[in-house]
Amino acid sequence: MRTPLVAANWKMNGSREFAEQFFAALDLEGATAEVVICPSFPYLPQVGEKLKGMGVALGAQNLSQETSGAFTGEVSAGMLLDFGVRYAIVGHSERRSLYGESSELVAGKFLAAQSAGLVPILCVGETLQEREAERTLEVIGSQLQAVAEAGSGNIWGSAIIAYEPVWAIGTGKTATPEQAQQVHGFIRGYLGEAGAAVQILYGGSVKSGNAATLFAQPDIDGALVGGASLDAEEFARICRAAG
Ligand code: PGA
Repeated sequence: MRTPLVAANWKMNGSREFAEQFFAALDLEGATAEVVICPSFPYLPQVGEKLKGMGVALGAQNLSQETSGAFTGEVSAGMLLDFGVRYAIVGHSERRSLYGESSELVAGKFLAAQSAGLVPILCVGETLQEREAERTLEVIGSQLQAVAEAGSGNIWGSAIIAYEPVWAIGTGKTATPEQAQQVHGFIRGYLGEAGAAVQILYGGSVKSGNAATLFAQPDIDGALVGGASLDAEEFARICRAAG
């Protein structure tokens, strides 16, 4: 049995004040899902303090593929570990499209996170154009393959995958539960034997109103939540819907 997991991706939102108010309002009573909060780098220590004793884990939104050296502006996996971070999002579509991160670079980040002991949350997803051209599974397959080729051994054993159709992120459009399940099933099959235990999250305009039907799908194990994770009460409702 896979434990449901809900991760909050705050993106470049928030402030010291926002984090204070968010945790004052966050009530996860009745939620049994694993919960991860991913704030921007500067707020990791503040959010980490808030999470102590809550049974909620700390995640980062990005990391460097390098371990140390002359890489101005970058943050390594080791630095994140120093602040109690346990998860790191890699390959978010905003990083791929706005910052030109290739699947090879994403694979490097995935492996850097994993070899340091962080759990990478690998985002994959197709654009609307790719979906309309019926290339969805081919695109997802190639994003997964880049990681599989770069790594060796049981790389999926300690990893989370987030399927986030690019056309559903921040747009209010969600994949139907059937569309999402089709891709989640494909991903699980792709991962082979290790796939049975891997948590595969759905992301893209998840809200409390659509969460339950998505989570009812056999291969959807939780969600990566952007916009709706900025509202503590709405986020808690999504966590409760997951388990
Ligand atoms: P959204 O973002 O929930 O605002 O669509 C999800 C994500 O980008 O992780």
